Amino acid sequence: MILVVLLLILAALVYDSNTRIVEDTYTVANGRLPEGFSGFRVVQLSDLHTTRFGENNSKLFEMVRGQAPDIIAVTGDLIDEERDEDYVRELMTGLTQIAPVYYVTGNHEWASGWVRDLFSILEECGVNVLRNKYVVLERNGDTIVLAGVDDPNGPYDMKTPRELVSEIREEMGDPYILMLAHRNDEIDMWSELGVDAVLCGHAHGGLIRLPFTEGLIAPGREFFPTYTSGIYRQGGTQMLVSRGLGNTSFSLRLFNNPQVVTAVFEREI
Ligand SMILES: [Fe+2]
Repeated sequence: MILVVLLLILAALVYDSNTRIVEDTYTVANGRLPEGFSGFRVVQLSDLHTTRFGENNSKLFEMVRGQAPDIIAVTGDLIDEERDEDYVRELMTGLTQIAPVYYVTGNHEWASGWVRDLFSILEECGVNVLRNKYVVLERNGDTIVLAGVDDPNGPYDMKTPRELVSEIREEMGDPYILMLAHRNDEIDMWSELGVDAVLCGHAHGGLIRLPFTEGLIAPGREFFPTYTSGIYRQGGTQMLVSRGLGNTSFSLRLFNNPQVVTAVFEREI
């Protein structure tokens, strides 16, 4: 009897940990941010793995809309193995009605076998696909650079992050750079390149979040990973790691609810 009760409690916890979305707001403060971007709000959605929240993703849309974002950043692993074009169209049609959407690939896109078709669908939906490129954002008369890199599992001859940042500096001088990147383990590189802020995911919060740890399991199945949730600082770089929203085929979350991240940028003197 006790065993049955314990199993029921565990089942309820697992259900909650995989279906109830939470929202967390982080402040990214830096003296290099132009004044016009004080209060700039980015909603970050990472690692959806074709997961829906509510009918036709209605719960997710409601939560994102409630955060009143200036832009929405989708940081990779949007899809999983299964080809699901309807999911992508439904999600991106909903999100682009809320705010401009910027997207970078994760490792799962490159493993999916339909990444080229995915790019076409995203572009049809009005999503800005940042494949080792950058755009200039303007707000209250000031500008910053928003850049995005493909996951390292992309084409072997693609432009490297180093080349992208050099290109930005050659063309734009020394702007504030906000980078979108799927991987969570490259803070050394971003810091060396002098990127101001990075939004990433990939870690799924370490799947099972236990007290005093960064979660239990890394995406590569190693135990006790690092850089799985929240803001990490190195030099002048701040890297914000989302715990993500979905799961890969055989994994489950525990004490690690799907997370909608809002990054609020502030100028700090
Ligand atoms: Fe990933």
